[in-house]
Amino acid sequence: MHTSRLHFKDQVQEGIPTRLPDARPYDDSINHAPIRKAILTAEEKKLALRNALRYFEKQQHETLLPEFKAELDTYGRIYMYRFRPDYKMYARPIEAYPAKSRHAAAIMLMIQNNLDPEVAQHPHELITYGGNGAVFQNWGQYRLTMQYLSEMNDEQTLAMYSGHPMGLFPSHKDAPRVVVTNGMMIPNYSKPDDWEKFNALGVTQYGQMTAGSYMYIGPQGIVHGTTITVLNAFRKLNKSPKGHLFVTSGLGGMSGAQPKAGSIAGCITVCAEVNPKITQVRLDQGWIDEKITDLNALVTRVKKAKNHKETVSLAYLGNIVNVWEKFSEANLHIDIGSDQTSLHNPWAGGYYPAALSFEEANIMMAQDPEQFKIKVQESLRRQVAAINKHTAKGTYFFDYGNAFLLEASRAGARVYKDSNEKFVDKDTLVSLGESTEHWAYPSYVQDIMGPMCFDYGFGPFRWVCASGKPEDLAKTDAIACEVLETIKKNSPEEIQQQMTDNIQWIKGAQENKLVVGSQARILYADAEGRLKIAEAFNNAIKNSEIGMVILGRDHHDVSGTDSPYRETSNIYDGSQFTADMAIQNVIGDSFRGATWVSIHNGGGVGWGEVINGGFGMVLDGTDDADRRLKSMLFWDVNNGISRRSWARNEPAVFAIKRAMTREPLLKVTLPNSVDEKLLDAL
Ligand SMILES: NC(=O)c1ccc[n+]([C@@H]2O[C@H](COP(=O)([O-])OP(=O)(O)OC[C@H]3O[C@@H](n4cnc5c(N)ncnc54)[C@H](O)[C@@H]3O)[C@@H](O)[C@H]2O)c1
Repeated sequence: MHTSRLHFKDQVQEGIPTRLPDARPYDDSINHAPIRKAILTAEEKKLALRNALRYFEKQQHETLLPEFKAELDTYGRIYMYRFRPDYKMYARPIEAYPAKSRHAAAIMLMIQNNLDPEVAQHPHELITYGGNGAVFQNWGQYRLTMQYLSEMNDEQTLAMYSGHPMGLFPSHKDAPRVVVTNGMMIPNYSKPDDWEKFNALGVTQYGQMTAGSYMYIGPQGIVHGTTITVLNAFRKLNKSPKGHLFVTSGLGGMSGAQPKAGSIAGCITVCAEVNPKITQVRLDQGWIDEKITDLNALVTRVKKAKNHKETVSLAYLGNIVNVWEKFSEANLHIDIGSDQTSLHNPWAGGYYPAALSFEEANIMMAQDPEQFKIKVQESLRRQVAAINKHTAKGTYFFDYGNAFLLEASRAGARVYKDSNEKFVDKDTLVSLGESTEHWAYPSYVQDIMGPMCFDYGFGPFRWVCASGKPEDLAKTDAIACEVLETIKKNSPEEIQQQMTDNIQWIKGAQENKLVVGSQARILYADAEGRLKIAEAFNNAIKNSEIGMVILGRDHHDVSGTDSPYRETSNIYDGSQFTADMAIQNVIGDSFRGATWVSIHNGGGVGWGEVINGGFGMVLDGTDDADRRLKSMLFWDVNNGISRRSWARNEPAVFAIKRAMTREPLLKVTLPNSVDEKLLDAL
């Protein structure tokens, strides 16, 4: 046994070492994934061990078997901790990677960024965000994948099955270098416990959105979208954010962006978080201004902030349920409310019930999952009851795409209104013979993101500077800003507000110090914006003004995601329960020049509740890159607009007609609207 003394490049090329590295002690200083529910039978445990050991040579099995068994018994999963490399995990400049294909090197950079302890939520369990958003299932897969990427050339494609590298297959230079699938289950095997079981067996994983697709760029990715949401929520209320209160929860991977976004928008933010370690990280990062542990002190502080019309973000270290209840008791008016606990993962650490301490909850979810479920549901009913009191007094509450209303409705909370506008639970509504199709509250996509952004093609475009140089990022910011300002001059009235917000964002991006991990930037843009920005980047690379750039986007976008309670919740023709768009998108991207593509089951709202996909595209200043970006980015956005238009969403009809006038080869089927009087007369 030995600790590797090989250099980074050699370790990558080595893959799974033939000599066992030393076992690595469990590092208590780092944030770890919750212990997963013990779900496997004794026979299935053997199968999980058999599955894990197939990565290793026979002579190592005797040593590894008891070790992997102990991991499975203790943590509910086999992470193969021993194989976690001893080099530092972060996105290196692209030249640091051993690779025959520069595009493969770019993918290695992105993988390492997703596992960087500064970026990832549970780095040792290979979880990037959302509690279960995995890049790989175990360190064996990581090592093997990095080795394949270091070996492959531009005529090969690596097939990734839920973290497992199936291997390199001959393809061609215009094909994606990597094709990723995550959690692609036979539909009938897509219940939460199926994830527990098949993930424990080591045959599938929950890739979330940008975790399993190597496109996470830290909380910045979500700060922009959250800022847009908060700004537009205040616009809906006809209120300026100044001196007004936004209450929410979660300081995790994505939720951690809320206080920062609130401050950029200019309001008072109160964000509750039960996990002390995470709260401290956000405080140290400067993403929250103050941490408060006492509810009375919180009330006093909020009153002061209101009186002085402060822009301030306050973290409450404790349960969000208590905040809603306390503010109701104190008669403190909340202007905007939401929730970003991880309710897509309610039984395994995504939601902490109010009746238990953080520590008690962690023990109960592993040792007594049935009782834990009862506690979660009780807590949700309490939370909704308190929220309802506030909204009755004028608070604007929206679901933040975390399956809050879905799980609350399943818990029997009063998230519906009957025809008399009284809050009721689902069973009551059913007994009244009324439709359960709509909750009492909208999702942020229904009210804000869908009609104002996605339907027009605006979504979370992003890029990473592969040189790792902050100067390159600054240059790309300037290029993107110039492109948007030029486009805005001739933009129609309908999208002027979006253009203004996005220009303002990119101008303030440097000052807001958003980079965590790789030199990355997010910028909401429509098809025209994305394409022209990418083209300008490629030219700047060609002229050696900047190094290579990796383009991508969040899956939470115009076309990437089919999710009836989130991205497609503002589709009302019934097709919100279909997943054709996401599948079409990933197939279309892959033959139009994406460097890698991915398609996932689960992400945001839960396993079985969403299909989502994305891409990565390397710009290297070549004519090939120019050809690919034009072909792929156009499709990547307009696919979703056409579907949204077919669902009769007016902004999308407008946007797709506009796209057709600009691109003669585009011809999309347009919907006809029926006169409602004809239907009423039936
Ligand atoms: N930010 C966005 O724009 C956006 C968009 C769509 C969906 N989401 C969803 O938001 C959720 C959160 O994402 P994340 O990446 O931050 O997940 P996360 O698991 O990293 O963070 C959630 C945090 O909530 C805390 N928490 C859980 N229960 C709590 C309670 N009762 N009171 C106070 N704190 C509690 C947890 O300790 C955790 O730190 C996910 O379901 C995600 O899909 C976010």
